[in-house]
Amino acid sequence: MHSGMTIKDEKLYIVMVGLPAKGKSTIAVRMRDMFNRNDVPTRIFNNGEIRRKYAPLKDTWASAFYSPENTAAVELRKRFTLININRAREYLKKRGQVAILDATNVSRSRRQLIEEHLQDHPILYIECINNDDDIVQLSIQQKIKSPEFAGLSREVALREFKKRIEYYRIIANPLQTERNYIVMDSLHNKVLKEKLHEQLPLYSRIRDCLVTDVVKSLYLIRHTETYYNVEDRIGGDPELTPRGIEHAKALARFFQKKKISYIFTSEKIRTIQTAREIKSLQQNCTIVPLSEFNEINGGICESMSYDEIQRTMPEVYSARKEDKYNYSYPDGEGYATMKERIKIGIKKAFFLNMTPDNIMIIGHRAVNRMILSHFLYRREADVPYIYVPQDKLYHIVATQDRKVFELKKFQ
Ligand code: F6P
Repeated sequence: MHSGMTIKDEKLYIVMVGLPAKGKSTIAVRMRDMFNRNDVPTRIFNNGEIRRKYAPLKDTWASAFYSPENTAAVELRKRFTLININRAREYLKKRGQVAILDATNVSRSRRQLIEEHLQDHPILYIECINNDDDIVQLSIQQKIKSPEFAGLSREVALREFKKRIEYYRIIANPLQTERNYIVMDSLHNKVLKEKLHEQLPLYSRIRDCLVTDVVKSLYLIRHTETYYNVEDRIGGDPELTPRGIEHAKALARFFQKKKISYIFTSEKIRTIQTAREIKSLQQNCTIVPLSEFNEINGGICESMSYDEIQRTMPEVYSARKEDKYNYSYPDGEGYATMKERIKIGIKKAFFLNMTPDNIMIIGHRAVNRMILSHFLYRREADVPYIYVPQDKLYHIVATQDRKVFELKKFQ
């Protein structure tokens, strides 16, 4: 009897809350993986999947399907919710320990429906908020690539999805009366608000998971050789040399058997060209250029060689040598001033990749040093000297319980 009570009390429903494209599924997957790694059987119950499975002929891409005025569709969506609620309950009755309900659940009435039907174990709501415009736009662009929008023009898909979000916004009520909840900034992995009415099982693990950058496998690559590299010139927007293209093809072969869904690059030709080669040997791979990963801006020194800088602007050369981390090029950047945008780039990449598996970033020498320093402790003064070769890549694993750094040859 007593042990039965203990087991029962260790079970938990987690209910995701948030408008579409706010990162709920990414966080649900991160929690599921963390629990399953720790032998806590966990499953995600996603309303979108049920909708796509049971209503394939029902134009669920159309925003009208989400209008609060469309009573038939409201009823249908309620039925899908109930299917998941029942599945989640059954799962916890058997061997499941954590059931994650992944849907918008933005209205109080929807949450009341969940509470009426799930009374056997506590519920923890996790609301995802994220107001970064870029991220929302990029997530919407990814969403409209799903089969639900197949056959529609990009404009129509975009319009309909945005309208869908507006319909959800109309019915949204903030978490307030609910017993247990966490509101989090899903881009910065930051808890904004938390309320706990009772001791919840597994709470510290969940909270820790929410604020940790988890990456099961990050491939950090520097673009291959460019015409500027040959002449030791900095910055600019040069193309790859034939040797650079050869190396990019070698990278592509190296990754051929690994599934890479997204390649995050800078907006510069050299990183995109390297990515295109890798993409060419992948099945379903999208290149996402992010300005956050653009190389350090050399300001008035852009496109000059180190030799030229030393000759024509000796004061710049020596000041940089004196304190490379804190020095900013006139009208340009320094390592210190890049820090914030690089951090945002990493958050965006992790957010958009959806799963913590095989994240690939193709950056530049200074950019990759900053990315490495995000995971690998280095004194600031040492960051601008981290070794970032063009013929090897870094493979990084950083989970709550495992950290690995490897410098690997790819050819
Ligand atoms: O030379 C290639 C490059 O990526 C330049 O574009 C950039 O200015 C430089 O490396 C950064 O390295 P460092 O800070 O050592 O000059």
